[in-house]
Amino acid sequence: MSYAKGLEGIIAGETAISQINEEAGGLRYRGYALNELCEKSTFEEVAFLLLYGHLPNRAELAAYRQTLLNLRALPERLRLLLEQLPKEAHPMDLLRTSTSALGCFEPESPQRDQYAIANQLLASFASCMLYWWIFHRDGRRIDTRGGDDTIAGHFLHVLHNKTPDETHRRALDVSLILYAEHEFNASTFTARVIASTLSDFHSAITGAIGALRGPLHGGANEAAMELIQRYRTPDEAEAGILQSLKNKEKIMGFGHRVYKHSDPRSDVIKEWARKLAAMSEEGQRQFAVAERIEAVMRREKNLFPNLDFYSAIVYNRCGIPTPLFTPLFVMSRVTGWSAHIMEQRAQNRIIRPSSEYTGPAPRAIIPLAQR
Ligand code: COA
Repeated sequence: MSYAKGLEGIIAGETAISQINEEAGGLRYRGYALNELCEKSTFEEVAFLLLYGHLPNRAELAAYRQTLLNLRALPERLRLLLEQLPKEAHPMDLLRTSTSALGCFEPESPQRDQYAIANQLLASFASCMLYWWIFHRDGRRIDTRGGDDTIAGHFLHVLHNKTPDETHRRALDVSLILYAEHEFNASTFTARVIASTLSDFHSAITGAIGALRGPLHGGANEAAMELIQRYRTPDEAEAGILQSLKNKEKIMGFGHRVYKHSDPRSDVIKEWARKLAAMSEEGQRQFAVAERIEAVMRREKNLFPNLDFYSAIVYNRCGIPTPLFTPLFVMSRVTGWSAHIMEQRAQNRIIRPSSEYTGPAPRAIIPLAQR
């Protein structure tokens, strides 16, 4: 039996949802190049593509947007629960708990199939997060239904209580496209493992949120922002990063298990970060610091930024508080997770690998009285 620590390089299953091929231009969702999807489509089209297997036509897209809009309302019992969850909780805990609670209040059933659950979660994650965030900070009980017909526009509109600037809205929309799917990453694999036991949809998504939360995975975008904000100037950043590397610390937002030379998603988000940063002095300062960190990491470690690094600047420039960064990743990746759960169910075999035993040699039990 072959063994690779962290399952590096192991093919653990088949998928028709996305493909990583660094040599052939990076990442594709169901055959479409990701950079082309970012130029020519919207997040709702990509969500539809991942879940239903094809890009929607105009009528399908209009109907899908309406479906998602109708699903933004939260059940009364969930709103009450959100009011009880502490203000100090991390928003990721809040999304994990909300998913689990929805699985109790409105479980999967023959009347509420897996597509209905996937769409409800996609439509209501922003509602859960913002209802809780605004209730505990402004004391308002918001109406989560909102008028904006895109998830990105709705999120920014409700968060800031005003119509978002179009450049900000589109930047967030593109980041949601970039975060939507990435084959057998840790959280998706978690979802597939749970689905492979024939467990329910909400359990698989709840587990995936838990896996995504860690700083080696989705939590890296929040850690990257904290890093960028630590330094006032590029020179300060260079000195700080060199010291961190000397201390053998990991620099969040750099490196990748699968990509060895560059993360193709980073090139796209970096251009949006540059565009948004140019709109203010603070943005220009942040971008200069980030570019210096990138240069030092390339020079010293031959490491490149991953999607999380410049996403942090995009979100910060959109006025999004840092604790909401990883939850935005959830709002997007729930599409990929859902597609994978459905795919796993359609071709299921329980996922149960083996391990290399490193414990004590066989030994006899000493009776309790003599231990
Ligand atoms: N900062 C500093 N060194 C890094 C690094 C980083 N961000 N990422 C990798 N390295 C170094 C490791 O220290 C290791 O060096 P060594 O061989 O001298 O011990 C080498 O590069 C290989 O890294 P490793 O952690 O074994 O790679 P992995 O494939 O197990 O992990 C990541 C991949 C993404 C978890 C890892 O690169 C990382 O922790 N990055 C920071 C977190 C992050 O941005 N996560 C989001 C991923 S999209």
